[in-house]
Amino acid sequence: MSNIILAIETSCDETAASVFRDGCEVLSSIVSSQIDIHKKFGGVVPELASRKHVESIMLIIDDAIQSAEIRHSDLNAIAVTNGPGLIGSLLVGLSAAKAFAFSLGIPLIAVDHIEAHAFSGSLEHVMVYPYISLVVSGGHTSLFRVNSYKDLEVLGKTRDDAAGEAFDKAAKALGLSYPGGVQIDRLAKKGNRDKYKFPRPFLKSDSLDFSFSGIKTSLVNFLNKNNITDQEQLSDVCASYQEAIVETLIEKTISAAILYNINHVSIAGGVASNSRIREYASERLISENINLFIPSAKYCTDNAAMIAALGYQKYINNETSDMDLEVYSTKRKKYVRGKGYSNN
Ligand code: KG4
Ligand code: ZN
Repeated sequence: MSNIILAIETSCDETAASVFRDGCEVLSSIVSSQIDIHKKFGGVVPELASRKHVESIMLIIDDAIQSAEIRHSDLNAIAVTNGPGLIGSLLVGLSAAKAFAFSLGIPLIAVDHIEAHAFSGSLEHVMVYPYISLVVSGGHTSLFRVNSYKDLEVLGKTRDDAAGEAFDKAAKALGLSYPGGVQIDRLAKKGNRDKYKFPRPFLKSDSLDFSFSGIKTSLVNFLNKNNITDQEQLSDVCASYQEAIVETLIEKTISAAILYNINHVSIAGGVASNSRIREYASERLISENINLFIPSAKYCTDNAAMIAALGYQKYINNETSDMDLEVYSTKRKKYVRGKGYSNN
């Protein structure tokens, strides 16, 4: 008999649902983006995001169930993101998940969004533990040592902005539309990445932490001194700026792999869909004899299939939640070696 999970993800500005079978088969993965709504404000407006989730959630879940060609009665469990993220947005997904779990009489499973990104490589690869995981998204930049699906040890994290924020804020300063990472990636393809030198913070330090606010400030200072006169110069600035972020992220990840003597690395989160990160990482990791697991772009940006993949592991290990499950905006858990994070 097969085990089928419905997963729901609404932590930020994507309403997503996925149906997942037996820990390996994505039967459907539906993602509805709210980019057009938030674009004119230059970033996500939390109140608008939760209202749009309310409008979309049932349509997206129905779409996921129909695309998977299953009935509600085929479901064995409901997995849902309960943090970190925007509280109003998370509550929409959690309420829907509780309603499904209660009415169908099946378990509810809480999934942490960042842990799901760190585990998302398992959707397309057989992951080998332990591995080093770099999670790079709009709100997070962290390096983990992943010992098992529930044991993620933080090795380093950003001290200020996330890498995605560094892309998005730079795009805003350059007059490009939201979300900036995609625009910078597109323009950088035509640019010269060695034309301008932007800082690589902490690259030479022993710490595995990151810092991205200085790169952004140096771009703003550059723009105050230089007028961007044509498309070629804009592409060169994008390529040079992107290179500083990419080099910092990947070289730090390699340092972590060498320090912990681990030769498997996973890179995930929205920024991992960046074409230069993928190219730079595969070249450099091959040269260091490190295996790279990097999901397809559709599983790097926010999606519910990754919530299902981690939710499935929790389901088969009986890690279910009660109906009084709450949401949380930031990671507030305590790490216990060998046991992962606890909520206390
Ligand atoms: O994981 P994600 O979809 O949502 C969060 O959990 O934050 O990541 C969104 C971030 C945004 O900052 C966006 O600009 C960035 O991922 N991003 C990219 C690219 N595609 C999305 N950054 C650089 N290059 C890309 N191609
Ligand atoms: Zn994310």
